[in-house]
Amino acid sequence: MMWNTVTLCSLGRLPHSATALLLPRLQTFSRVLERKYKDLYHDGDIPSVYRHVFEENLRNSEALIKRYSELLETVSKGGGENAILRHTQRNKKLFVRDRLKLLLDDEPFLELSPLAGLSMPYGDVPAAGCLTGIGKICGVWCVFIANDATVKGGTIYPIGVKKQLRAQEIAMQNRLLSVYLVDSGGAFLPLQSELFPDKSHGGRVFYNEAIMSAMRIPQVAVVCGSCVAGGAYIPTMAEEAVIIDKIGTLFLAGPPLVKAATGEYVTPEDLGGAQLHSKVSGCSDHFAASEKEAYECIRNVISTLNYDPLLEEITEHDSPLYHSDELLGLAPQDYRCTLPVKLILSRLMDGSRFQEFKANYGTTLVTGFGHVEGHLVGIVANNGELSHHACLKGSHFVQLCSQRSIPILFFQNTAPHTAAPTSVSQAEAQSHRLKAQASMMAAVACATVPKITLVIGGCYGSDSYVMCGRSFSPNFLFLWPNARVALVDSRHFSTVPQAGDSDYTGNESELKRLKEKLEEESSAFYSSARLWDDGVILPQNTRKVIAQCLEIIEQQKYQTVSPCQSPVMRM
Ligand code: COA
Repeated sequence: MMWNTVTLCSLGRLPHSATALLLPRLQTFSRVLERKYKDLYHDGDIPSVYRHVFEENLRNSEALIKRYSELLETVSKGGGENAILRHTQRNKKLFVRDRLKLLLDDEPFLELSPLAGLSMPYGDVPAAGCLTGIGKICGVWCVFIANDATVKGGTIYPIGVKKQLRAQEIAMQNRLLSVYLVDSGGAFLPLQSELFPDKSHGGRVFYNEAIMSAMRIPQVAVVCGSCVAGGAYIPTMAEEAVIIDKIGTLFLAGPPLVKAATGEYVTPEDLGGAQLHSKVSGCSDHFAASEKEAYECIRNVISTLNYDPLLEEITEHDSPLYHSDELLGLAPQDYRCTLPVKLILSRLMDGSRFQEFKANYGTTLVTGFGHVEGHLVGIVANNGELSHHACLKGSHFVQLCSQRSIPILFFQNTAPHTAAPTSVSQAEAQSHRLKAQASMMAAVACATVPKITLVIGGCYGSDSYVMCGRSFSPNFLFLWPNARVALVDSRHFSTVPQAGDSDYTGNESELKRLKEKLEEESSAFYSSARLWDDGVILPQNTRKVIAQCLEIIEQQKYQTVSPCQSPVMRM
């Protein structure tokens, strides 16, 4: 149930004795109010008039979740059974997911973009060839970047570079210690031109390592396989590195190249094994006899970084009054199946409470404050077309959050297009809207608070920028499986010029093809494969994911280190 919390908040101003006396009565009163409010407005209940849309959305969500689970299952097998056998039995290494079990605390972690790399123009690259995410090590939230050597020897594809850069960006924005598990043959050579020369290509990963070190964000690495060429720089530029005997090797060019250049055969171990790098070159700082020992060592390193954030754990909070499974019926299968966004909020906020701001003004945008698992947040949620008034309200509210240092959650479900003006007054209204949108964009861009964006429906055109889309750098951006991401909605394609229109230039089959292309490119899975987001999450897990992100973001509040110095350089 959604209801204004002012009544309860005013308790704080009463003397203690009066509070004790009044509290039971007020609690009874608030329960009566809750019931009354519920009966009057059906604020959290799904009104019967929405039932058929709810059922339709539910069927759509179930089908998408089935597809999502199948994709996750495929991705969890990395490069496939044969590659895993070769990796574990012939090469005697642990599969990347088993490595994470040894590295991370025994707690749930947040995996980022697991579907990245599927159906690329150059084929499927499961999980983009490397797992990234945020998990706890010795109680500290850390970013991890772990190559999966079962995918073409852990070589880096263009999408793999993008995934690593995004993980580093998250580490920098949220000041998170980073761990690299390196098992990589360097660049995937057939795609070298898409990997090597440009600013956001491979070299940027090394550049970021230096910058992060200068920002006093510690980085540690484990050499847990072959680290060739680019793969060799990552551990060497890390502040501390562990290398595993008989498993980890590090060189710019491997034995085949040495043979070609000098005619001499040298074993990988002699050329760049654990003994050599620990005793002779100094490229690694710790020698580990086994994988298990290496992860223990890295955990010890982390526990002595003087980086204990002393997180204050929030233990007390109440659950929403409505079941999160109902979010599946509230996730719109397309824009026309959108239900009031407060029904969604009432399934995400603590106690389903929401302190609404400007409830009766610009109602196509819902703004207000609430808590998610005890964390105070500002909410900005689409509830119809982003009108002039809605944007003015949005700008005001975003500035309030920034002023009060309250993180903002954006719930994005933007309209596929705005109606074309049919009169001068409508044209004027649209230009006012444009101006107000520009002002809200500026407010969102400049708000100096953490932002998390959840695409719960449409992510269309410029409205998505106003609602803190990817180009507005939210700390995290997740999609629900039903989300649709495109400049325009293929399902509203009838507005595109048709045969007979004066500006029509194409033919019908071209239009049909374009519509099919748009349909395919709009899906959440298509977006996530390309890393336009941090992953698809299930609606019923949203509250958990938001709470995890808020805790991760909050960690930096407790850091005692000063923000900037020079980087640590290996001598
Ligand atoms: N570019 C493209 N494909 C590569 C590759 C590269 N740099 N390195 C390896 N591969 C491919 C192999 O062709 C093989 O493909 P396949 O499964 O279709 O046959 C797959 O990755 C696994 O390689 P393989 O050598 O069978 O596995 P491995 O575990 O024994 O060794 C490496 C993995 C990475 C150590 C080894 O392949 C190697 O040293 N590669 C050369 C790395 C290199 O020179 N990089 C320079 C980058 S600038």
